Order: sequence, then C-alpha cells, then structure tokens
Amino acid sequence: MNNALTIALSKGRIFEETLPLLAAAGIKPIDDPETSRKLILDTNQADVKLVIIRAADVPTYVGYGAADVGVAGKDVLLEHGGEGLYEPLDLKIARCRLMVAGPEGKHNGQGRLRIATKYVNSTRRFYADRQEQVEIIKLYGSMELAPLVGLADRIVDVVDTGNTLKANGLMPLEHIADISSRLVVNKASMKMKHARITEFVERLKTAVGAA
Ligand code: ATP
Ligand code: PRP
Repeated sequence: MNNALTIALSKGRIFEETLPLLAAAGIKPIDDPETSRKLILDTNQADVKLVIIRAADVPTYVGYGAADVGVAGKDVLLEHGGEGLYEPLDLKIARCRLMVAGPEGKHNGQGRLRIATKYVNSTRRFYADRQEQVEIIKLYGSMELAPLVGLADRIVDVVDTGNTLKANGLMPLEHIADISSRLVVNKASMKMKHARITEFVERLKTAVGAA
C-alpha cells in the first residue's frame, strides 16, 4: 500500500514557522528551500517529501491530491473556498488580521467605494453582508500603493504590526477576520492513508499545544 506523504508548503514565513512543528513530528528537510532551486525536497524520512509552491497554490495542490497535506493561511483558504479539503488543525503560526485599510479621513461619499485587493472573494462577501455596493479591483500585491496613486479608496489586506500601512500613510479601518495558518488535508488521502495522516496530525497537535 502506498503510504508515502507529500506535504505542500510555501517558502518564507510559513516554511520557517512550520519547520519546528515538522521536527516535532520527526520530519526534517534535507535541503533548504531558500537556497535550493529544487521544488521537491527530500526529508530524513524516505517516504516523506515537501513540495515548495506559492502560498495561494497550496489549497489547489492539496485539493487535487497532488499533495496529501499542506499548510495555508486562513486568508488563502477563505479565498479558495476549501473544496476537497479538511482543515483539522489551527497551527497558530503566521498570525495576522484581514482588514480594510485606507487613508486617514473619510471617503467623500460620492459614488461606490473602490477597494483594491488580492482577496476578491472575501472582500465581496464582507461588503455583501453589509449590503454595501463597492467596486473591487483585483491586484496581486503591493496593495498599499493603490490609494496613494488614486487607483482605489481602500484596500483589503493582511495586517500584523501595522507598520506597512503606517509607512504608506494608511490606517486600519475595519476588521474582517483573524488569520493564522491551518493544516489542510486532501479528503481522499485522509481515507486512503488514515492511520499515517491521523498520527501526523496528532503529533503536530501536541507540538502546537506545547508551543
Ligand atoms: P507570495 O509570496 O506567493 O506572493 P504571500 O506574500 O501571501 O504569497 P507570505 O508572505 O509567505 O506569502 O504569506 C503567507 C501567509 O502568511 C499569508 O497567507 C498570511 O496568512 C500570512 N501572513 C502574511 N503576511 C503576514 C504578516 N505580515 N505577519 C504574519 N502573517 C502574515
Ligand atoms: C504582508 C502583507 C502586508 C504586511 C503586513 O506582506 O501583504 O503588506 O505583510 O505586515 P505588517 O502589518 O507587520 O507591516 P509581506 O511582508 O509578507 O510581503 P509580501 O506579502 O509582499 O511578500
């Protein structure tokens, strides 16, 4: 029976903050994704591999079963919708808040608010719940720039210290959701590799509790 485990992770903060949790589950990568050009990393366990992908692609790889499990921010999961995924564990890493932000001072109230964001679905839901009509402009990064150059009135982005907003003359205005990274599991993998994945989840759970 194939009991191998493929784990999807993104480089940077998720990789760094997941590393100690994986170590507690007995998994140590052999290569460092920050220096290696490899996208599939071997680990100390012959049948455990890490695939290194963009943060927003983790739910897609795991949802289609190209990886059995993965780590993704709740912001990314809210946007993706979570199809084909279980979300058994809050890893309590990469914590931040999804917020509406904008320049100090009020919108002049003429016409619809224009909101620049990469979180189009979450933004649409947030304003629909408030029955407020807005125009959403999809961006892929550097959202803070949009109000500075007149592209948008507001942005929706993740905020941690607030330093990025402050450095660009913006302030947090409304809280949409508390964010942390979650372990996600492919639904078919959970069935086919139940014992292995359950043990992995339990070991991570213990490590999160101890952190
Ligand atoms: P990419 O680099 O592929 O464009 P990204 O910038 O969203 O994607 P990261 O910056 O590594 O990727 O963020 C990964 C996750 O970490 C996000 O989905 C979010 O949940 C969380 N996150 C983002 N920014 C912060 C922050 N400043 N502090 C804490 N957590 C954050
Ligand atoms: C994230 C996010 C904000 C910033 C918020 O960017 O897109 O710009 O963090 O954090 P702060 O409130 O502590 O300033 P990140 O640093 O991850 O850069 P990137 O997403 O553009 O790679």
